[in-house]
Amino acid sequence: MLQTSIIYCGDNLIKLKELPNDSIDVVYIDPPFNSNRHYELFWGDKQEKIAFEDRFGDPLNYIDWMRPRLQQIWRVLKSSGSCFFHCDWHACHYSKVLLDQIFGYNNFRNEIIWCYNRPGNSRMKNFIRSHDTIFYYVKTKAAPFYADPVRLPYSKSSKSREGYVKQGLSGAFKEKICKLNPKGKFPPDWWIDIPPLRPNAKERIGYPTQKPVNLIKRILLCSTQEGDVVLDAFCGCGTTLVASHHLKRRWLGIDISPTACRVMAYRLRKHLGLVEGQSFFVRDLPKIEQELKQMHPIDFQNWAVTALGGISSGKGSDKGIDGKIYLVESKHDLLSNINSFYPIQVKQREKVGRPDVDAFETAMRREKKNEGYVVAFSFSKESVKEAKRAYKEDGLNIHLITVQDLIKQAEDRLIEQ
Ligand SMILES: C[S@@+](CC[C@H](N)C(=O)[O-])C[C@H]1O[C@@H](n2cnc3c(N)ncnc32)[C@H](O)[C@@H]1O
Repeated sequence: MLQTSIIYCGDNLIKLKELPNDSIDVVYIDPPFNSNRHYELFWGDKQEKIAFEDRFGDPLNYIDWMRPRLQQIWRVLKSSGSCFFHCDWHACHYSKVLLDQIFGYNNFRNEIIWCYNRPGNSRMKNFIRSHDTIFYYVKTKAAPFYADPVRLPYSKSSKSREGYVKQGLSGAFKEKICKLNPKGKFPPDWWIDIPPLRPNAKERIGYPTQKPVNLIKRILLCSTQEGDVVLDAFCGCGTTLVASHHLKRRWLGIDISPTACRVMAYRLRKHLGLVEGQSFFVRDLPKIEQELKQMHPIDFQNWAVTALGGISSGKGSDKGIDGKIYLVESKHDLLSNINSFYPIQVKQREKVGRPDVDAFETAMRREKKNEGYVVAFSFSKESVKEAKRAYKEDGLNIHLITVQDLIKQAEDRLIEQ
């Protein structure tokens, strides 16, 4: 039995193999151009940024990487199923040939061109690239096309032309041709009426390459009905899941990036009010804490300090201080206020105890600081007690931060960017 409302974290080649034959009504995918793609997240306060980099290799490598995945997608589709493959100029022509091989040339329905405005500049040496391509394939001719839900309102000019033609021509046949359908007109296979996400769009999550919900909705409306099963095997921040939920389709998502999977879960909780563990599930997330415990100590120190928004002292600690959060707005301020910082101490351990907090207090006093941070996997009761005492009696404000807190904060910042 196919289970839906699940986000699987992992390589889709492996996850797809676990899904039963003939179980999915529609697949939408928006794969990265190259299998060597690197997803790196840097979390810190102002410097926070997401590097989401394509490595443009040989398109044939990409095709070799894509082939077994598309074969799996073909296998899991019902005979009445459809597949929408979203790509751009990098590899769309190579992908079309691959899709023809897998689905059959005769099962190709449309090449949809999604047009959007993109600004150019005076130094441009070619035309502005301002469209993506979505290949629409079906597994067999039995795949439905639901025309009515994707009809669009007629423009004013076609409405006035209808009147004109009807007045000017007589004869039932011609009149029928010119009659406008009250349900609206069919969209062509070039879509100019769905804008890309604006930077301030309400639905924007901050995930690079996020697609608009309305784009996916049109795809689902023409190919599925309520209750049908939708799969996105390169799910990103979960746009397909949101569109499916709005249209009462069942859904499944796969993404290899744990961050993407957590961002999706956040989006479903915050934007759709779904309850994780009840109305949807995230499976196979790696145990991030486990990985952090096994990191090289310096890498862990760098990670923890950066996640707090500070600058790491680098190799080894600087007299008990592993990093500093500078209280400055700009690089210029940093140079003139080198001494205004909060110290950070990092412990790659569970149950950090009172002696560690005592040692940090000494380091704080030496630096003449009355506020600072200790990061660890967990803290003993005695250390929490001592931090409270130090605040009350000595005016030292020591924040005890767990790695769990940092992971959570980093996710929230990523989403709220
Ligand atoms: C272009 S983004 C998809 C964006 C998505 N359409 C949206 O609106 O958010 C491509 C996604 O594919 C994921 N990905 C890359 N290789 C993968 C693999 N082998 N298995 C599963 N997901 C993969 C990446 O982590 C990334 O989130």
